[in-house]
Amino acid sequence: MADYQARPAHRVSGMLNVPGDKSISHRALMLSGLAQGVSEVTGFLASEDCLATLNAMRALGVRIEQASPTQVSIHGVGLHGLTAPAHALDMGNAGTAMRLSTGLLAAQRFSSRLVGDASLMKRPMERVAKPLRDMGADVRTHDGTPPVDIVGGRRLHGIEYAMPVASAQVKSAILLAGLYADGPTTVVAPAVSRDHSERMLQSCGVRVTTEGLRTTVYPPQALASQRLNVPGDFSSAAFFIVAGLLGAGGDGLLIQNVGMNPTRIGLLDILRSMGARIDVLNPRESGAEPVADLLVRASVLQGIHVPASLVPLAIDEFPVLFVAAACARGETVITGAEELRVKESDRIAAMSAGFAALGVAHEVLPDGMRILGRADGPAFGGGDVDSHGDHRIAMSFAVASLRAAKPLRIRDVANVATSFPGFVGLARSVGFNLSEDG
Ligand code: S3P
Repeated sequence: MADYQARPAHRVSGMLNVPGDKSISHRALMLSGLAQGVSEVTGFLASEDCLATLNAMRALGVRIEQASPTQVSIHGVGLHGLTAPAHALDMGNAGTAMRLSTGLLAAQRFSSRLVGDASLMKRPMERVAKPLRDMGADVRTHDGTPPVDIVGGRRLHGIEYAMPVASAQVKSAILLAGLYADGPTTVVAPAVSRDHSERMLQSCGVRVTTEGLRTTVYPPQALASQRLNVPGDFSSAAFFIVAGLLGAGGDGLLIQNVGMNPTRIGLLDILRSMGARIDVLNPRESGAEPVADLLVRASVLQGIHVPASLVPLAIDEFPVLFVAAACARGETVITGAEELRVKESDRIAAMSAGFAALGVAHEVLPDGMRILGRADGPAFGGGDVDSHGDHRIAMSFAVASLRAAKPLRIRDVANVATSFPGFVGLARSVGFNLSEDG
């Protein structure tokens, strides 16, 4: 099993570009596959999660060429051109691939089965199956989890669905099925979640309207192909944002070409209210998405109560926010984040176990954590922590090494490749003392 050795390193500096956005890369493959003609995607995230979607689209009859890992040409087969896969589609570790594909496949003439790795096979799928059944689809889970079996040939109806959780995956699955419905489909959300699907559908010529928390898709005749430059993933940048706050040298750490979609950057608001010094430079548009460069300076952080309204806008950033909180003066309280329990791991439990091993004072809450930080000197001891096979837990503890008294061994890190290929090399290039073995 692969582990990280993370030795204390107190300074990071220089500049870096993080790999392409995972959410946008999945959606680019799916929507381009349904489009008329060839779509050209650059900045594609060639990580294991997105390659699971790429292989699934190929198995559904879409020709996809990769001139380089990040440069992809997708030969769209049209809205009704997908063909039956010869085997079960393996989505690996990727919840987004499985949930969005369930929506897409629920509307096809053929049947299909979706499976995944040990983590994904335990994750809740009824949250997508239920609304799809309301639309008339035949989607079956096994006690609420995968394998997901989809019986094809159903006529789908437009519905209005009040979504119980603020989930972009659930919303997107319904919008994808809605492309094939006999009328408009509306999702009403309890709070804002990432809107990459809506933006990309619009770029492909689909009518999608958003009024407050109501999103409606109108079934199109066809989708237009796209030329897309995928921005750097804010969620990958987050590890380096916190690293810069904890240990940037004089000129700071510059992270270039970061996706700045307002539904993704809740972490910036949270960190700024903790005292973080982060400048947004050169804001620009890249297709349908805003992008900027971020200059991060070492900052003295102060504990806060994180507003629950920001939780869905920072949902993937909590593990690294917990690390920042452990290095902040005073107490940080996070509540309203029960969704963390059903991510690639139970992220509240996984971070708590690591904090216990490294001597961070904290209290686990059913829906979050109370963390008593230490701003002066090392906030973490040394020793062993287990990532539980969760990429974001592994990378978060690598960031903790910037404020550790002794080396850390971070166990079971192979899944970093699901979202962040090249993480170790990039981290080392800005000053981390990080290596992978095993
Ligand atoms: C994602 C949505 C979020 C996020 C996941 C990616 C997406 O999941 O945690 O990493 O691409 O739509 P939920 O929809 O379950 O909140």
